[in-house]
Amino acid sequence: MGRFAGSGSTHRGAPHFVRTSDHVPTTGRLDTFPAMDPRPPTSGVSFARVNKTHADGTVAVRQLDLDCPAGAITVLVGPSGCGKTTVLRMVNRMVDPTAGTVSVDGRDVAGTDPVQLRRRIGYAMQNSGLLPHRTVVENVGTVLRLRGSSRAAARARSLELLDLVGLPRTTADRYPGQLSGGQQQRVGVARALSTDPDILLMDEPFGAIDPLVRADLQQELLRLQGDLAKTILFVTHDINEAFLLGDQVVVLRDGADIAQLGAPAQILDHPADAFVERFVHIATAATSRGSAAR
Ligand SMILES: Nc1ncnc2c1ncn2[C@@H]1O[C@H](COP(=O)(O)OP(=O)(O)O)[C@@H](O)[C@H]1O
Ligand SMILES: [Mg+2]
Repeated sequence: MGRFAGSGSTHRGAPHFVRTSDHVPTTGRLDTFPAMDPRPPTSGVSFARVNKTHADGTVAVRQLDLDCPAGAITVLVGPSGCGKTTVLRMVNRMVDPTAGTVSVDGRDVAGTDPVQLRRRIGYAMQNSGLLPHRTVVENVGTVLRLRGSSRAAARARSLELLDLVGLPRTTADRYPGQLSGGQQQRVGVARALSTDPDILLMDEPFGAIDPLVRADLQQELLRLQGDLAKTILFVTHDINEAFLLGDQVVVLRDGADIAQLGAPAQILDHPADAFVERFVHIATAATSRGSAAR
């Protein structure tokens, strides 16, 4: 958890991210963090014997048991088609399991209104999912507007979010097509953070970005996480990204079958089997772990 030792960011304690919700027992959490980090034990996301069989009979997820601790980054890594996106989408009920239980804060999401649920859960995806005919600031503020914020309030908050994700305010009134790919991804992350969710689902958010920019975005995410301590489920097929970002890395094979789960160092030092070993061999850049920003 060394990364949570704080980054000295100027955004630390930005008022709109100080948690005031009743389920977090501490006040001024960002200020007291990381002193021993007393997280509520029930927080987080968990999967218990979760299965998903699609209508055509495809088994996307088979008997998944997984705990994603609160305030940590859990990275799901595995080959294309192994079920990563399906697992992620079961958290906010974009997909419902055919069997088993997905829980948020210990409560089965099946009994939760999807709209309520999604207030607490931000979602960022690979192509950024921005609306092309809305400006940057309108895209970021979309959910805030839907939830009744005035145009001015949504704009003010959106500008703060642009600061937070490292975008100059000069981009605010541009359209997504007028931004670089990396900038668009930042807008997508800003939008995912707009409701100050406890949980962030990130589905290959940096997948389409060129390597240098992707490295910047990865470091930005670690910096942000050092300040915000969200519960993050991050999907990638890039093992280097998994080892860089994950507090906990879950290596999956087809059917979201867990080949290995552990801290990056555990997996690197003791790959469970030949399947994991192949991933580890690819992880040439994993030696950078422990250097930058950590
Ligand atoms: N709506 C669907 N209907 C049928 N099969 C699907 C559907 N969505 C995904 N799948 C299949 O489920 C499996 C897991 O898909 P997905 O979760 O998207 O994998 P990943 O994100 O790891 O690439 C794949 O075989 C995929 O083709
Ligand atoms: Mg996917």
